[in-house]
Amino acid sequence: MSRPTDIRTAAIRAASPTDAAAIADVHCRAWRETCRGILPDVMVDGLTAEEALASWSQRLDPDSGVSVFGAEVEGAIVGFISVKSSDEPTADFDGMIDTLYIVQAGQGLGLGRALTATGAAALAENGCKEMGVVVHADNPALGFYQAIGGRTVIERTRLHRGQMCPEVLLSWPLPLTLPNK
Ligand SMILES: CC(C)(COP(=O)(O)OP(=O)(O)OC[C@H]1O[C@@H](n2cnc3c(N)ncnc32)[C@H](O)[C@@H]1OP(=O)(O)O)[C@@H](O)C(=O)NCCC(=O)NCCS
Repeated sequence: MSRPTDIRTAAIRAASPTDAAAIADVHCRAWRETCRGILPDVMVDGLTAEEALASWSQRLDPDSGVSVFGAEVEGAIVGFISVKSSDEPTADFDGMIDTLYIVQAGQGLGLGRALTATGAAALAENGCKEMGVVVHADNPALGFYQAIGGRTVIERTRLHRGQMCPEVLLSWPLPLTLPNK
């Protein structure tokens, strides 16, 4: 008889190009679960499996400049983070969280905190002094970033995929010290 998967036992490891399909799948699922009702359906459904796979194949290329870490349990990726140099010219941070997604069943178990700590350590190792993130103002993830000590640096509205999106930019000094639980 097979045991039920316990997501709390997930281990974090560096992702490789062979993880592209698994990460693209988690990205699509978590994007739809999270963004339905926050973003217009046209944007939510705009991320196709093909687009996600192409994007992750490119980001997982060792020369992409993106570092990706997965949370894995019993051979299955249940969440991931990607970090990179900042592409936000108006903000002071030099490194940033590119993506952070966990499947719904794995949320609220500490994986987001653990993945963020791993991504921040990778940025600090690459010499970054400040880690930022961009989050839609209506995404509950804003509460997560605030709970782990993110400081709001910019609030703005930006045109994204043809829609005006209210966004918050937060940041943390590196090396990262997360607030105690
Ligand atoms: C946002 C996300 C990464 C958080 O990860 P998680 O594993 O659920 O969060 P954790 O269990 O590590 O929580 C860490 C802390 O944040 C708090 N927290 C988590 N989600 C929260 C929320 N929506 N609002 C307020 N606080 C929150 C937790 O209570 C916990 O606090 P504690 O350390 O004091 O106990 C996850 O929910 C997710 O993948 N969401 C969907 C995708 C997404 O929106 N990604 C971000 C795009 S910018």
